[in-house]
Amino acid sequence: MVKIGNVTIEGDVALSPMAGISDSPYRQITRRFGSAFSYTEFVSTEQIKIGNVKSLDMFRYQEMERPLVFQIFGSDLDTVVYASEIAAERKPDIIDLNMGCSVAKVSHNGSGAGLLKNVRLAGNMIEGIRKRTSLPVTAKIRLGWDSNSLNYLETVKVLEDSGVSAISVHGRTKVMAYTGLADWNAIGEIKSRTNVPIYGNGDVKSYAEAIEKKKQYGVDLVLIGRKAIGNPWVFGNTPKELVQWNEIQSVILEHLDLMLDFYPSNDDYALVLFRKHFIKYIENTGFPEDTKRELLTVTSVDEFKNRLESVQMDSKFLETSEIKNESINCETFVSLV
Ligand SMILES: Cc1cc2nc3c(=O)[nH]c(=O)nc-3n(C[C@H](O)[C@H](O)[C@H](O)COP(=O)(O)O)c2cc1C
Repeated sequence: MVKIGNVTIEGDVALSPMAGISDSPYRQITRRFGSAFSYTEFVSTEQIKIGNVKSLDMFRYQEMERPLVFQIFGSDLDTVVYASEIAAERKPDIIDLNMGCSVAKVSHNGSGAGLLKNVRLAGNMIEGIRKRTSLPVTAKIRLGWDSNSLNYLETVKVLEDSGVSAISVHGRTKVMAYTGLADWNAIGEIKSRTNVPIYGNGDVKSYAEAIEKKKQYGVDLVLIGRKAIGNPWVFGNTPKELVQWNEIQSVILEHLDLMLDFYPSNDDYALVLFRKHFIKYIENTGFPEDTKRELLTVTSVDEFKNRLESVQMDSKFLETSEIKNESINCETFVSLV
C-alpha cells in the first residue's frame, strides 16, 4: 500500500502512462485486471490553456479508474500551473508532471525530459501546482539527459524539497530513449536516498518480475508499459500464454466496445484507433495471418466483430515465445494535441 497525500494506492503494479494507449477504455480494463491505479496519457499544458477540446477530452474518465492521476507536460511555469488548475476542476486524485518524454518535439522544447536540464524549474512547477490545486503532485523522471549528465539524485532532491508526493523513475536517460536496458541499480539508489514513495519502471515483462524488482530494489510500486499493451493479464499474475483464446477474444470485444463508447463518431475512428491494441492482443497467439490482415482493414464494426467471433483456436497458445514489442516506443502514438 502506498499513501500519496490522502490517496491510498493498493497493489504493487500499475499501468505506466502511455500516449495513445492509456486512455479511459484501457485504464478501465487494466484497473479491472489489477493495475493499482491509473495514469492518463500525457496532456499538453499549452493545449489545456487554449481550451483544445481533444486535449481536455483526454481527462474524461470513469470513477472505477480511481485512484486517477492526470499527467501533464509543459515548459513554461505559468502555463503549467494555470493548466493544472483547469485540470484539477475535473477532479483527479493526483497530478503528475512528465519529466521523462524523450520525443524531440517535447524534450527539445524544454518539457518532458527537457526538464531534467532545468530541475529548479521543475521544482517550481511542482510547488506551483501543489499550491494552486491542493492536490498531491507526483513526477515521472528519467535518470538524466545523457550518460554524462546523470543528475537523478539532484533531481529527486529538488523535487522532494518542492513537496513532491511520489516519483516514478524510468531507468534510462533521455538520449537512450528506448535503447539499452533500464538501470535498476540507479532506481534502487534513488529509493534508498529519498523519503517519498518511488515507483520503478523499465523493461518489466511480467507480474512476477515486477514483484521481484520491488523486493530487490525496495521500490514502492512497479510500472509496466510496453509489456502491458494487449496484455492486461500482466496485472493479475496470469502469464498471457496461459489465457484461453475465448477469454482473449472476449476482452478484445469488451475493449473495442469501451472505445466505441469513448470515441463516438459516424465513421470508423474508434476501430482504427483500436487496431494497435488488437495487434498486441493477438501477438503470439497463433492467430491466422490472413484473418489478421482482413481485420486490420475492415471498416465496419459489425464485420470486425463477426469475423473475430468466428475465429476458433486451441485453448492455449501454441507457442510461449516472449511477447515482442520492442518496435513500439513513446514516439509511436504521440500526438501533441
Ligand atoms: C507508446 C508509448 C507511449 C508513452 N507515453 C508516455 C506518456 O504519455 N507519459 C509518460 O510518462 N511516459 C510515456 N511512455 C513511457 C512509459 O510510461 C514507460 O516509462 C516506458 O515505456 C518504459 O517502461 P516499459 O519498459 O515497461 O515500457 C510511453 C511509452 C510508450 C511505449
